[in-house]
Amino acid sequence: MIRLLFGRSLSVRLLWLTIAVVLAAEVMVFVPAVTRARHDWLSQHVRDGQIAILAVAIAPGGLVDAQVRESLLRLSGAVSVRLHAPGQPEVSLAPAIAPTTATVVDLRDETAMEGVQRALAALLRSGDALLRVEATSPLLPAATIEIVLNEAALDRDLRDIARDIGAVSVLVALAAGALMYLVLHALLVRPMHRIIGSIVAFRANPERTHPLDPKAVAPLANDEIAAASRELAALQQELREALWRNARLAALGAAVSRASHDLRGILSPALLTAERLQMNEDPRISNAGDALVRAVERATELVRRTLEFAREGPPTLIRAPLELGSVVEEAAEQAHAISPRLRIETAVPAGTRVEADAGELVRVFANLLRNAGEAGAHHATVGAVSDRAGVEVTIADDGPGLPEPVQRALFRPFVTGGRPGGSGLGMAIARDLVRAHGGELTLQRTGPAGTVFRLSIPAVDSGRLVTEARADAKPA
Ligand SMILES: Nc1ncnc2c1ncn2[C@@H]1O[C@H](COP(=O)(O)OP(=O)(O)OP(=O)(O)O)[C@@H](O)[C@H]1O
Ligand SMILES: [Mg+2]
Repeated sequence: MIRLLFGRSLSVRLLWLTIAVVLAAEVMVFVPAVTRARHDWLSQHVRDGQIAILAVAIAPGGLVDAQVRESLLRLSGAVSVRLHAPGQPEVSLAPAIAPTTATVVDLRDETAMEGVQRALAALLRSGDALLRVEATSPLLPAATIEIVLNEAALDRDLRDIARDIGAVSVLVALAAGALMYLVLHALLVRPMHRIIGSIVAFRANPERTHPLDPKAVAPLANDEIAAASRELAALQQELREALWRNARLAALGAAVSRASHDLRGILSPALLTAERLQMNEDPRISNAGDALVRAVERATELVRRTLEFAREGPPTLIRAPLELGSVVEEAAEQAHAISPRLRIETAVPAGTRVEADAGELVRVFANLLRNAGEAGAHHATVGAVSDRAGVEVTIADDGPGLPEPVQRALFRPFVTGGRPGGSGLGMAIARDLVRAHGGELTLQRTGPAGTVFRLSIPAVDSGRLVTEARADAKPA
């Protein structure tokens, strides 16, 4: 119970908030009601006094006997009554001994604030002083009526009225407060607890915990809580799938890496034998030896690259200012050695500089240009524009374009267009390297007329930030 009342949870705050709102509502209802009750009480007595004094006013010479006077005063609840009308003698209804009054209230110029203060004061004081009330006559607007009353009677009646109003409004406020608390609890607190519970459980064991069921959190609502739980459920589902995929990929990576290692051992004697066949004098045998050597070399290269990819962590870059043109030239030479038919035009403006890792950047361009050559392009152009934000490079070729299925998963490892010896790692590695520089590699367009890739390398400051962030994220 103590925890419930003094804890810091949402439901405790909500409880206190409800109490505060209910109390504020209570004050807002109670104070005007009591003020109004006092005003009505005084007005009623002024009216009664007016009726009583009317009897005196119509009596011949304004004279009524003492007994009638006393009865009139008792019936009107006043100690004395006086009526002043302009240009007429004062009419008075008073006991034999004139009362002495302490407090004067002039109802004609009483402000709302004074009304509130006097009503609240009446609730708190106790005493039997006399009160003189001055007001406009209810019958003659030009006349003033002055009536002396027992303050104690006003105070007692007001306290009774206040008790009644207070009791009713406390009951209403309690019922409204309880209802408000229950509704807020059902709409807000309970769904939040479910969401938090799901987050905590998921964090502790993401693979085993079922994603949140949004319908169980907010069955009917279509509000922000429902939207948040739907998003959380989708996030958990995607995360779980990614974790499963990663676990399977890791297992696969370990298996491939072991198999590749063994394969290298198996391929070495095959290469040795093929080389011996190459040296045979019989041209048919030596030709077969050539083909065999090429096949074994391709297989060895595939194994080497797969192993390298499996072992490779996030790239660690050694960045230095570079002339982009010379990086492209070096990559073009490598690509040309593999695809001699491919003419590569470097249209990078002289003086285009980037701060990057030279070896890795050459690898990126070599991968892209080699792909163009291997796809059958005859001509490739590398262009660049630079500004303060960095450099934007385009690599365009006139090859046949990417096969449809490859386009959809181009940057995923092991996705290849079926070229013999292709491991499907070139684009995945190229994108990883560009991203490590803080940039991005995208396929801009592809089709029978050729393919264009776009590559951005941001200016050094933003690039360094990304590199450092990635280096920090690198597993120990
Ligand atoms: N410029 C291009 N023109 C046409 N097809 C391309 C081009 N670049 C890439 N591709 C297609 O994308 C596929 C994937 O390329 P990626 O470099 O990732 O793998 P790969 O070249 O098959 O193998 P690896 O580069 O690992 O030896 C290629 O097999 C090819 O079908
Ligand atoms: Mg390739």
